[in-house]
Amino acid sequence: MTGAAGRLDAGEGMTGPRARPNAIALRPGYHSPQVEVEVRLNTNEAPEPPPQRFLDELAATVAGLGANRYPDRRATQLRSAIAAHHGVDPGQVFCANGSNEVLQCLFLAYGGASRTVIVFEPTYALHSHIPLLTATEVVTGNRDHDFLVEVPAARSLLAEVARGHGPREPSITMLCSPNNPTGSAEPRGTVEALAAAVPGLLVVDEAYGQFAQSSALDLLDSHRNVVVVRTFSKTWAMAALRLGYLVADEEVVAACEQVVLPYHLDSVKQAAGVIALRYESEMRQRVARTVEQRGRIAAGLTELGLKCWPSEANFILFRTQGARSREVWQRLVEHSVLIRDVSDWPGLEGCLRVTVGTADENTRFLDTLRIVLAETSPPAA
Ligand SMILES: Cc1ncc(COP(=O)(O)O)c(C=O)c1O
Repeated sequence: MTGAAGRLDAGEGMTGPRARPNAIALRPGYHSPQVEVEVRLNTNEAPEPPPQRFLDELAATVAGLGANRYPDRRATQLRSAIAAHHGVDPGQVFCANGSNEVLQCLFLAYGGASRTVIVFEPTYALHSHIPLLTATEVVTGNRDHDFLVEVPAARSLLAEVARGHGPREPSITMLCSPNNPTGSAEPRGTVEALAAAVPGLLVVDEAYGQFAQSSALDLLDSHRNVVVVRTFSKTWAMAALRLGYLVADEEVVAACEQVVLPYHLDSVKQAAGVIALRYESEMRQRVARTVEQRGRIAAGLTELGLKCWPSEANFILFRTQGARSREVWQRLVEHSVLIRDVSDWPGLEGCLRVTVGTADENTRFLDTLRIVLAETSPPAA
């Protein structure tokens, strides 16, 4: 049964066994509503499909796959292709069904009862939800007013956790860079300092990595505890195919292989990943177009008198005046433009997040927002 906030209300009206409460408590309002609209700018997908030649090649490959056989359990070709793409060894690559499943495997392997993870809020909700599912204790650190992690504060938190929990020092510290939903990317110095400071893994979620100026990938050689998580859902325009991966020390890959279900990665997505990587220059061109459009949206929001934060991703966080974000969001939906209401996320009062779309979609968003802002008056001071 689904509650008003999209939560599963297990036990409500049921006479059978009750689900474990932690397994159902996704933060209220996390799921973006899937409503039929003309302009969908709510889930940070690529606005353009991948190249037709990619789709044709994939269709031809799928036709000859042999659906009666289980897929290659080790995803050999795909891991080699990703390894070549990043200039690492195939033994350093682990693939799964979207980066969410990659994260879940990391928590199954390194989290769990009597283990702790540190997350810095506001950030991607699954970074604290997956720990709940895997019975990992979540310790929350804050970000500064630009939504960046402050190294001294992070160090103090690490020390506090170590003092408070003794053997429960964090087995995982999560960084999201660029961070969803704020768009902020951590300076290289921060990532390096945390990699040196944390006692366990430093997991850097780079779902939006290709939009950013730097990556933690080049810390892998010097820091064996750094794990970089990437996805094909955003820059590769393949959200429907559900493919993500991590690049890390071989020991981390081996640990993830221990916990993942056998044959979890179907043959179609293994082929899709291999073929997609042949279209890197098209991907880079899509990213460049998005970055250009991102600048246009930021300028448009500023012109409308709204505070927005610098973004190194394919979305922008902005704040509506007063407490009318929900109303603005609702009126946009009525005009068939769907963005993300993040105003009930920790520290994001009055904030909305818009995904960068095509030039036409962005024009429609900005024009509609102008109308909606004029129609909705800010609350009296
Ligand atoms: C920061 C971050 N990490 C991971 C994901 C999950 O991506 P996927 O499971 O589609 O690879 C998302 C999706 O929005 C995200 O924003």
